Amino acid sequence: MLAGKSNRRTENDDLLTPMYAARALRGSIPRYSLPEESMPASVAAKIILDELNLDGNPALNLASFVTTWMEPEADQLIAATLDKNFVDADEYPQTVEIHDRCVNIIASLFNAPRQSAYTGCATVGSSEAIHLAGLAMKWRWKAKRKAANLPYTTPNIVMGHNVQVCWEKFARYFDVEARYVPLSENRFVIGVEEAMSMVDENTIGVVGILGSTYTGEYEPISELATALDNLQSETGLDVPLHVDAASGGFVAPFLQPELEWDFRLPRVCSINTSGHKYGLVYPGVGWVIWRDESYLPEDLIFHVNYLGGDHPTFQLNFSRGASQIIAQYFNLLRLGREGYTSIMQALQATAGWLAGSIESLGHFSIVNAGNDLPVVCFKLKTPRAYSEFDISDILRERGWIVPAYTMAPNAENIAVLRVVVREGLSRDLAQSLVEDLSHTIAHLEKGGKPGLVAKKREASKQTEGKRVRAKTRGVC
Ligand SMILES: Cc1ncc(COP(=O)(O)O)c(C=O)c1O
Repeated sequence: MLAGKSNRRTENDDLLTPMYAARALRGSIPRYSLPEESMPASVAAKIILDELNLDGNPALNLASFVTTWMEPEADQLIAATLDKNFVDADEYPQTVEIHDRCVNIIASLFNAPRQSAYTGCATVGSSEAIHLAGLAMKWRWKAKRKAANLPYTTPNIVMGHNVQVCWEKFARYFDVEARYVPLSENRFVIGVEEAMSMVDENTIGVVGILGSTYTGEYEPISELATALDNLQSETGLDVPLHVDAASGGFVAPFLQPELEWDFRLPRVCSINTSGHKYGLVYPGVGWVIWRDESYLPEDLIFHVNYLGGDHPTFQLNFSRGASQIIAQYFNLLRLGREGYTSIMQALQATAGWLAGSIESLGHFSIVNAGNDLPVVCFKLKTPRAYSEFDISDILRERGWIVPAYTMAPNAENIAVLRVVVREGLSRDLAQSLVEDLSHTIAHLEKGGKPGLVAKKREASKQTEGKRVRAKTRGVC
């Protein structure tokens, strides 16, 4: 009897043992090698969740443009569809239908010329969207050069030095010369004349950003389009314009509907946007839309039949989760124009309030008050014994993630701080940020220094660049 009881105790051990008395939580676990033995799912999840407590709090991560909050219904919808691979089109035709509806809605939002089916696709984010759009520009340029019996080995692309790193990646990965328009100490976006001086017969396209990752300012898209129109009438060069609307694609249509930056400008051939930024979906979903199908060369599209049926694919990755695409459709349906407009207006009002409050602290000048993207960018008014980086470090000790960084060439002498106002940053929370910023300044003015966080940042700088290589440290 007794023996039987003790056997049952062993069988149920995992269920009966209190969580922190579990073997895996009492002893050390291998971190860089596969454990020899299994452990209960609840214990594994606890270990990981506990470790992740050391991460920053996503709600206080004001560095990121990426969504950290969605409605509970969206969370449920995502959880219910996590098992769907988007590429299995034959198995999930309704998911494909939802994807196509998103493409049509976003293309109409960007004022693409009316057509029976718009040309575009979902991506993992703007980076993949940009790689696809860049490839399409390169292929079209190459086809034109080939047809004219001209050399096609030295393509280039013209863009501001303030482009996000994904453009540098595109240029390097796909063998296109990147021609960067330098910034200046009082211009933090592309210069139109400067850009035109870099365009030549090998230019596959010019990039305009709506808005800049560095400051949140919109680049002068319609001026770029006019300049390229003039260039064509003067020289015959027909160079397309791509708009990187990673953030602005879901802001401008609601906050500045009269601003002409999209397919209303005939020069614009393609646009990318991040569904996971102001599209208000968790990472990762992005979109790329072409003016019409003639801007997406057919030989970039692959047709596969091994899933059943014929499937055109133009993605860098074959498999991808469908849930973020479904969540994008949820937002489009749930919010509509009215919902997106009221959210964007609320964010812009918070950004304006924040900029005014930061300015009234007396120590900062405002670089962008959130008039374009709801992003507040500011810097110290006069040189002090401390820097924007020290301010960022001290705020981090309190939990706020407010990045400090230097501008792109030739404005790299200027350091700024930036707050991305996203859904989740209420006026009340913004007020707490201003109070903490004020305490931070008082501390630094008295000669105080940042502590542990700054040291950790310095240490991690030493290992930067090595991060992509897997760690091979021994078992601890
Ligand atoms: C202007 C711009 N383009 C491209 C990207 C890359 O977007 P994603 O993170 O969606 O790949 C970003 C990201 O911040 C951005 O700000």
